[in-house]
Amino acid sequence: MAREFTSVGVVGLGTMGAGIVEVFARNGIDVVAVEISAAAVERGRATLTGSTDRAVAKGKLAEADRDALLARVDWQVGLDALHSVDLVIEAVPEHLDLKQRIFAELDRVCKPEAILATNTSSLSVTEISVATTRPNQVIGIHFFNPAPVMKLVEVVRTVVTSADVVADVEALCERLGKVDVTISDRAGFIANALLFGYLNHAVSMFESRYATREDIDAAMKLGCGLPMGPLALMDLIGLDTAYEILDTMYRRGGRDRRHAPVPLIKQMVTAGLLGRKSGRGFYTYERPGSPVVVPDEHTPVTTGGALADGARAIAKVGIVGSGTMATGIIEVFAKAGYEVISVTRGAEKSAKVCEAVKTSLNKGVVRGKLSEEDRDAALGRVTWSATLDHLADVDLVVEAVIEELSVKKALFASLDEICKPGVVLATTTSSLPVIDVAMATQRPADVIGLHFFNPAPIMPLVEIVQTIRTSGETSATARAVCAALGKTGVVCGDRSGFIVNALLFPYLNDAVKMLEASYSTADDIDYAMKLGCGYPMGPFELLDVVGLDVSLAIQRELYLELREPGFAPAPLLEHLVTAGYLGRKSGRGFRDHTKR
Ligand SMILES: NC(=O)c1ccc[n+]([C@@H]2O[C@H](COP(=O)([O-])OP(=O)(O)OC[C@H]3O[C@@H](n4cnc5c(N)ncnc54)[C@H](O)[C@@H]3O)[C@@H](O)[C@H]2O)c1
Repeated sequence: MAREFTSVGVVGLGTMGAGIVEVFARNGIDVVAVEISAAAVERGRATLTGSTDRAVAKGKLAEADRDALLARVDWQVGLDALHSVDLVIEAVPEHLDLKQRIFAELDRVCKPEAILATNTSSLSVTEISVATTRPNQVIGIHFFNPAPVMKLVEVVRTVVTSADVVADVEALCERLGKVDVTISDRAGFIANALLFGYLNHAVSMFESRYATREDIDAAMKLGCGLPMGPLALMDLIGLDTAYEILDTMYRRGGRDRRHAPVPLIKQMVTAGLLGRKSGRGFYTYERPGSPVVVPDEHTPVTTGGALADGARAIAKVGIVGSGTMATGIIEVFAKAGYEVISVTRGAEKSAKVCEAVKTSLNKGVVRGKLSEEDRDAALGRVTWSATLDHLADVDLVVEAVIEELSVKKALFASLDEICKPGVVLATTTSSLPVIDVAMATQRPADVIGLHFFNPAPIMPLVEIVQTIRTSGETSATARAVCAALGKTGVVCGDRSGFIVNALLFPYLNDAVKMLEASYSTADDIDYAMKLGCGYPMGPFELLDVVGLDVSLAIQRELYLELREPGFAPAPLLEHLVTAGYLGRKSGRGFRDHTKR
């Protein structure tokens, strides 16, 4: 029989503590909520009231239930109030000495059978536990932010945590409607170990002005379907907390440079820019604690798609290639009203592409997303050709041929001879340096990357890749075109992986390394990222969809260009590819797809 928890204590009512109080009180458990001062108690109480009031306003919580919930919370200053609770969860700032002091005090105050839990994200639960005389009753219960919403709880057992304490806590998580994964005491556990390298890398992109905050966040939301971008997430976590987590992970996790906090984070913490909780972090918020972002001096001025900054007028677009991307891009431009000339390597290929575009447009009609007239008009805008000479008078060329530098360079050299002056020449490459392609022409200022995502008609993101030779006019034109296509164009520099792949693939590679180290299972790691961080797919699900060979190739490119030791491809990934386990397309990757 699992132990009955009738009352619990929560220590520290900041970003996490206030949410944890809500989780317990919502599930009928009495909570003693403890802070360091009366003012801090008031802040915690205001957070809980605000959150439950919002739930009532949204119709997710009845008024009477809210009142009952609030009545279950006993607000107190000082740990002495915790003498009779069955379990305490500590959620004070991420400092080992502070946590150890609190645990020593809790050990003195709490009844002998009480379980003492920490919500630490990165510190050693074992080191915290030895500050007490009951380390076998100390455990990590790591909730995710916001605690009332995120389903995951990481239950962290140390080498001395007793088995029945683990079982009791697992049963409690179930009662709270959470999904738990039980793991051992390693820096960052599952989710943060995979998340924080990515967050830190995103901050370094921002710090080096590789891309703007809006573009970095939009890229990861729209390119990967994440619920929020990395910089907005840093603001939600709190920059002070994020700094401490990174710092601890760097020290405890093998001094991986990717966890060494980017200097900007420390500067922002020192300047009091802590994120949402202080009203300003990477973004500016309506007021401290508010989730509402308000414009500030860094907010870009939108032109509403109007031609800006010397953008050239584009009416006629050439699209070169006959693969999946070219087909999708033809549809995108034709639907948006551009006159399109598709160039392939032969009439047979053109016929196939034309068929594929028709099929896709027809699907739109069947789904009620496109009228028959609009479909016919879109098709009517496309001319099918097998010779590049027909691109002599287009305003923009989008190249989407095979991902081989020699082929692309030869094509751009031909375009340079054929196209009229002032044409924007764009490549859709996802991994080659755009500058190499640009230098195959005599007009590198007119060359830019337009990295569409697959399937192009559906994915809302385009990465606009500027080389060091791309002119402002070319870039402005590319931005205006993306806006006219109804896509979000994000501007970045010409570095391996651009924004999305550079941030995504090292994280996937880290997940493989975690599996390889037998820290957790593929299922639990997938759960952790989906339920703890709101990712639409776990890393192993995604790797199997993308293809392990493709993932390995991208990871190799990143490693070769950036020489970051942490980016070295996971040996397990290489072995699986060698063994022909490429993911869904070959029937087996991290999972066996032939049985499902
Ligand atoms: N922020 C996140 O996204 C997140 C997610 C999961 C876990 N965590 C972990 O949760 C813990 C708390 O982080 P946070 O982001 O909520 O921090 P926070 O700074 O928002 O809140 C900490 C609170 O603890 C209070 N406090 C400080 N000393 C205290 C004491 N002696 N007694 C009682 N209260 C005290 C502070 O007044 C403050 O209100 C950390 O260990 C952190 O790593 C954070």
